[in-house]
Amino acid sequence: MPVAGPVAQPVAELRGITKNYGAIAALRGIHLTIEPGELVALLGPNGAGKTTAVRILLGLTPATSGRAAIFGHHPASREARLRRGAQLQVAKVPETLRVREHIELFSSYYENPLPFAETIAAAGLKGIENRLFGDLSGGQRQRVLFALAICGNPGLLLLDEPTVGLDVEARRGLWTRIREYVARGGSVLLTTHYLDEADALANRIAVINQGRIAAEGTPAEIKERGAAAGLEDAFLAIMKESSLQEVA
Ligand SMILES: Nc1ncnc2c1ncn2[C@@H]1O[C@H](COP(=O)(O)OP(=O)(O)OP(=O)(O)O)[C@@H](O)[C@H]1O
Ligand SMILES: [Mg+2]
Repeated sequence: MPVAGPVAQPVAELRGITKNYGAIAALRGIHLTIEPGELVALLGPNGAGKTTAVRILLGLTPATSGRAAIFGHHPASREARLRRGAQLQVAKVPETLRVREHIELFSSYYENPLPFAETIAAAGLKGIENRLFGDLSGGQRQRVLFALAICGNPGLLLLDEPTVGLDVEARRGLWTRIREYVARGGSVLLTTHYLDEADALANRIAVINQGRIAAEGTPAEIKERGAAAGLEDAFLAIMKESSLQEVA
């Protein structure tokens, strides 16, 4: 038998994933792979199943069927936990801890965390290390949550709508920090409703609608689906098309 050459292991994998919440079919057979160094954007309307996919990769909820893996490990395993970081759509951390204390606490969960100063720099938190989380503005809180996602020096970042509520400058700042993370060798799964964000950051976009992948490709390939009218029109065209197929 020929010996296969070394194959880079996917950073994250969803294979034939379904997820039912009672009668609600949130995911209906999703295949999604994130290769090393990739930033994959998951787009889709409210209720499409994006957060459900992220929660499965985080081991927070089990899939109903299919296989999910992080660097080949079960999402709920210690190995997977040590190699990923996440910023969730709805995240709560204690208001009465200081920025520094949050980062030190989270860093202690990991085997090879980033040095504190590097986390502060990578999240744009210089100067507010000693502030109470509860005293921070919305944008500053988002930056702390990003710091908690990267402080463990993970190979995979799962970012669920990380730029909601940020002003333009703060959003661009986070884009820069995400790009820097990818430049250092990290891989990212990002969900967003901002199509310009997916266009600016992603090397691959997966559009999800009603629990299925409706389209997948580079931003340029996805845009072509909208007769080159831009990503937003392509997105709407894909939604319309995949919903019609659903009805048929
Ligand atoms: N814990 C839960 N129990 C029951 N139904 C749920 C639960 N979590 C999600 N759902 C349902 O599953 C479907 C997918 O939800 P999900 O949160 O994954 O969507 P989403 O794509 O992240 O949407 P949004 O863009 O609004 O964040 C929705 O119909 C939602 O109501
Ligand atoms: Mg969501």
